[in-house]
Amino acid sequence: MDMFESRKKDHIRLSLEERSQVAPSLKGLERIRLVHEALPEFAFQDVDLSVQVLGQNLKTPLYISSMTAGHTEGQSINRRLAKAAEAQGWLMGVGSQRRELEDSGASSEWKELRKQAPQAILFGNLGIAEVIRSPVGQIQKLVESLEAQGFFIHLNPLQEALQREGHADFTGGMKAIEKVVQALSVPVVVKEVGCGISVSTMKRLADVGVQTVDVSGLGGTHWGRIEGFRAETESWQSSVAETFKNWGMTTLECILNGNESLVPCQLWASGGVRNGLEAAKLLSLNVEMVGAAHPFLKAAVEPLEESVMRLMRVWEKELKLALFCTGFRTVAEFREARAWEWV
Ligand SMILES: Cc1cc2nc3c(=O)[nH]c(=O)nc-3n(C[C@H](O)[C@H](O)[C@H](O)COP(=O)(O)O)c2cc1C
Repeated sequence: MDMFESRKKDHIRLSLEERSQVAPSLKGLERIRLVHEALPEFAFQDVDLSVQVLGQNLKTPLYISSMTAGHTEGQSINRRLAKAAEAQGWLMGVGSQRRELEDSGASSEWKELRKQAPQAILFGNLGIAEVIRSPVGQIQKLVESLEAQGFFIHLNPLQEALQREGHADFTGGMKAIEKVVQALSVPVVVKEVGCGISVSTMKRLADVGVQTVDVSGLGGTHWGRIEGFRAETESWQSSVAETFKNWGMTTLECILNGNESLVPCQLWASGGVRNGLEAAKLLSLNVEMVGAAHPFLKAAVEPLEESVMRLMRVWEKELKLALFCTGFRTVAEFREARAWEWV
């Protein structure tokens, strides 16, 4: 097993452990209450979750956030996730396609995934460190091998700095993002991996043409913790990771700050979202799409995609119920109104 494969396996194993999650109380979502409507004048079954986002007709504003790739275990997890996403009409981000940059044979993983889920809305993924080092043509090839409808670029300074094999040098990152946004055949969404994105970075991203930012903030999976657990016990990484175990801005803070500053881009929210009601709270803050990684990974390590689909159906029902009990029939109406208050 090469270094790459063993790192990816460590990531899956450790991300499933409870200690890799920040305390739910840090999220702050309990400070938001949706305002109950005792007389919604329509049927629960008529609540419509469908949305139009980045040129796609989606059945829900929910998505599976980018996870694993490039190794055998990852392939079966991705297959289950993609088949479930296709069946339920959710958007799904695949994990970093980095391996394909170094090994063109790795494109078969994506072609195979597309064969398994031909109708799924799949977004590609690459970290900023690779985006900086790769010609745009090579990134376009990643889109093509997956037949992706969109592309995530992830920003992960804390993780890269604490990772033994990390590339913690993002010099020229904004210029590289600008080039990709201009040249790629599909829309680009810039995301974090669990530490959030500040208003000033959102604005700089918007200045170079990024139209959508997934804040992926603090509240759930924490990559400082995971890289700390991977490091040797006596290493500096292990000690520093302990100090930085709650580093980041929460998903809620990022969204509220972005709204207050009227940032000129659409905001997506992920990072610590753990059910359809939490997703509804974020949507009520005018977020366009809400995603999660950890809960769906947990379901996807089960042998059948049915576990993932079951979880998706529960989230959909929770989101529908939140809309019904606030008196909104469509996601657009719900997002536009102020359906929430501070507790
Ligand atoms: C096992 C695992 C692998 C991940 N790999 C990637 C990745 O390759 N690219 C990426 O953008 N984010 C990756 N992420 C981060 C997630 O997309 C998400 O931003 C983060 O986990 C926070 O969401 P959560 O709290 O719902 O897990 C990964 C997450 C997990 C759990």
